[in-house]
Amino acid sequence: MKDTIEKIFQDLSQLKAATQKEVEEARIRFLGKKGEITALMEQFRSVAPELKREYGQKLNELKKEALARIEELKAQACQAASSDAPAEDLTMPGDVVPMGSRHPVSIVRQQIVDIFRKFGYDVAEGPEIEDDYHVFEALNFPPNHPAREMQDTFFVSSGHLNPLLLRTHTSSVQVRTMETQPLPIRVVCPGRVFRNEAISARAHCIFHQVEGLYIDKDVTFADLKQAILLFAREMFGPETQIRMRPSYFPFTEPSAEVDVSCNICKGKGCNICKGTGWLEIMGCGMVDPNVLKASGIDPEQYSGFAFGMGVERIAMLKWQVNDLRHYFENDMRFLAQFATATEV
Ligand code: PHE
Repeated sequence: MKDTIEKIFQDLSQLKAATQKEVEEARIRFLGKKGEITALMEQFRSVAPELKREYGQKLNELKKEALARIEELKAQACQAASSDAPAEDLTMPGDVVPMGSRHPVSIVRQQIVDIFRKFGYDVAEGPEIEDDYHVFEALNFPPNHPAREMQDTFFVSSGHLNPLLLRTHTSSVQVRTMETQPLPIRVVCPGRVFRNEAISARAHCIFHQVEGLYIDKDVTFADLKQAILLFAREMFGPETQIRMRPSYFPFTEPSAEVDVSCNICKGKGCNICKGTGWLEIMGCGMVDPNVLKASGIDPEQYSGFAFGMGVERIAMLKWQVNDLRHYFENDMRFLAQFATATEV
């Protein structure tokens, strides 16, 4: 028995097994039910009592050695198997992750803001939930002006002197700017506005505006006209013409609506401009002295102009979209068309 134990020790030290299968065969050879070490364990029962201690110790060592050796070979075989596995094919094309794109309203809002930034305007933002004072009163709306009534304005609270409401235009941000910023002021105010309108191809209860305000000494209507002309040419192309029609806003005097020459028919008349050759893009005017006074600016020393446009409307004209509702429906077939339309 002693010799057999020595022999198995030797066999273990020379044992080779390159694959998992060979390792398993080796395990069965030594430690399986009919394995060499298992057989020795059987024989151990009939060993003379005085030798039991010595042989028992040796057998235990042998079993430990066999287990350790097999574990070692197993680890080696595992490593060999994984390094033999075919390497990743690094030339395979990657998975295509579909790219999102910016919403057309965001693209045009950014274009408008970028154009005025180039002219030296800052950007100002303000709250969407506003009070009556900043949306109406400070802008010279007479107390009974129809725009304050429920059909135009979503009220958040009522019953007190200065109710909260969803702003109907971003002119409220201009008031906040006049209240807090030093003169001269040159800002554009992009933002979401809310009006209680029936939703149709041409109207929505939520839309976006960019309004602008310029206040300094000696600002005239000629400055307004030049600023709008330059904007229109940046936005719609260098050939664009503008015209102004007299209009009315409580906060500007005089006031005007601005049309640009139709960039589709080049002024000849088509169904987009309804045969007129002109497209309306914004309202504007010289800031009413009452508005300046309400925000603590002396109208004897300062004058200014303001303008405001709907972003969806500009986007509709730019891309000939015929229904405003497309902008709010999140139809991928519509939105995907603007994936590459990011340049000014
Ligand atoms: N605030 C006006 C509107 O919401 C637009 C406008 C702004 C008109 C500034 C004139 C001057 O329609």
